[in-house]
Amino acid sequence: MKMTSRSLSRAALASAFLATTLGVSLVLATSATGAASTLGAAAAQSGRYFGAAVAAGKLGDSTYVNILNREFTMITPENEMKWDATEPNRGQFNYSGGDRILNQAVSTGKRVRGHALLWYQQEPGWAQRMEGSDLRQAMMNHVTQVATHYKGKIYAWDVVNEAFADGGSGGRRDSNLQRTGNDWIEAAFRAARAADPAAKLCYNDYNTDGVNAKSTGIYNMVKDFKSRGVPIDCVGFQSHLSGNPPGDYQANLQRFADLGVEVQITELDIAGSNQANAYGAVTRACVAVARCAGITTWGIRDTDSWRTGENPLLFDGNGNKKAAYNSVLDALNAATPTNPTTPTTPTTPTTPTTPTTPTTPTTPNPSGCSASVSLNSWNGGFVATVKVTAGSSALNGWRVTTNLPSGAAVTSSWSASNSGTTGSVTWSNVSYNGTVAAGQSTEFGFQGTGSAEGITSTCAAS
Ligand code: G3I
Repeated sequence: MKMTSRSLSRAALASAFLATTLGVSLVLATSATGAASTLGAAAAQSGRYFGAAVAAGKLGDSTYVNILNREFTMITPENEMKWDATEPNRGQFNYSGGDRILNQAVSTGKRVRGHALLWYQQEPGWAQRMEGSDLRQAMMNHVTQVATHYKGKIYAWDVVNEAFADGGSGGRRDSNLQRTGNDWIEAAFRAARAADPAAKLCYNDYNTDGVNAKSTGIYNMVKDFKSRGVPIDCVGFQSHLSGNPPGDYQANLQRFADLGVEVQITELDIAGSNQANAYGAVTRACVAVARCAGITTWGIRDTDSWRTGENPLLFDGNGNKKAAYNSVLDALNAATPTNPTTPTTPTTPTTPTTPTTPTTPTTPNPSGCSASVSLNSWNGGFVATVKVTAGSSALNGWRVTTNLPSGAAVTSSWSASNSGTTGSVTWSNVSYNGTVAAGQSTEFGFQGTGSAEGITSTCAAS
């Protein structure tokens, strides 16, 4: 079935009850001590996501879906958005599996990492047989068509996957994609940006866990892209590990972050007897890097893993939490929260003397909410991401007013509904993001034409 945006939003509305329930359970996932009891809630405390790769064929398995709904806030389709799945015949697109997963995510308030627009593996047979300019044309059409189909609905795309060679060369991997010309990666990123300006665009690879020839080759490419304005927003570190990550795992993430890109752990699974410690080490490294946006495990239960027999995931075949789960949860809970409340030094109480006329009491920690806008602009357009943060009380609905400069106009949006498109625009929460715990945040965004430089925002609880 081809899922249109209308049927998608209808499906999302139909699931409003489910999403509301989820919102409540996310709030309940924080104990009285402040430690969160699910991976997603624990990661959210420091503004991060915690995701899993999901197979559409498993969405009928209730144990699988219960864990997915309870624990994870981001979904990567394990195979359903790959080239062989989405364009099995040239120019004929099939989004059934990808849409199923996207719909599951939207209806439960989760976001989606798109995986992967171009990869030398899982090319459909017709593309495997192509070379040169004909292939280049087909590759770019694929990027444009798929990114356009999912426009505004994807948090981040793995635009190019695994294009660098293993070993000491630090160079590109040979493939028919690479043989179309060394500029194929930047051409793919530009095509993806043009098709979906709201999606973060990532380069994703494996064996890049420490500073080595391969990761340095990728580092140099990202540095070059940033210096020439090629649109790249993030680098994915697959992190298929056996035992501890290398000692310079965090330093390697940090050197990429210092180039001005987000880093994401995209396909984490860890084999070996030291698994619980190793999972803790990876998680601590991510939360120590401000631009490490989140972690995704490559599957949910050991029995779902592509690494048959290695039991590399956080849940056993029966869906029970493993020791590795607790290591990850503890490391997420230990992360520095975003919006930490500044500890106040207790002052010595002064002895009241002459009674003073009572003044209207001021609320020490105002409830309500605040909103901040970050802009990603280009000549003639922009994407605005708005962070809504609850004050000292939980929100059960919010309204944000943004003031756009003249000439700017909203063209599309996600995770909020708006009245108006120019000047003063009011945004209201949707079903799944109205409930925000005290001090916590949620995000929505919009895309527009013109320049939004100077935009201001205010927030009110509703
Ligand atoms: O669905 C068909 C089934 O109908 C058929 O009977 C069976 C026979 O081989 O194949 C099934 O498809 C398999 C598919 O997984 C679903 O299980 C493919 O053969 C198999 O090649 C495919 O493997 C996937 C692999 O990527 C190649 O695309 C794995 O599930 C997936 O976990 C793995 O994921 C990759 C990331 O995309 C990139 N990084 C590495 C990672 C692990 O290899």
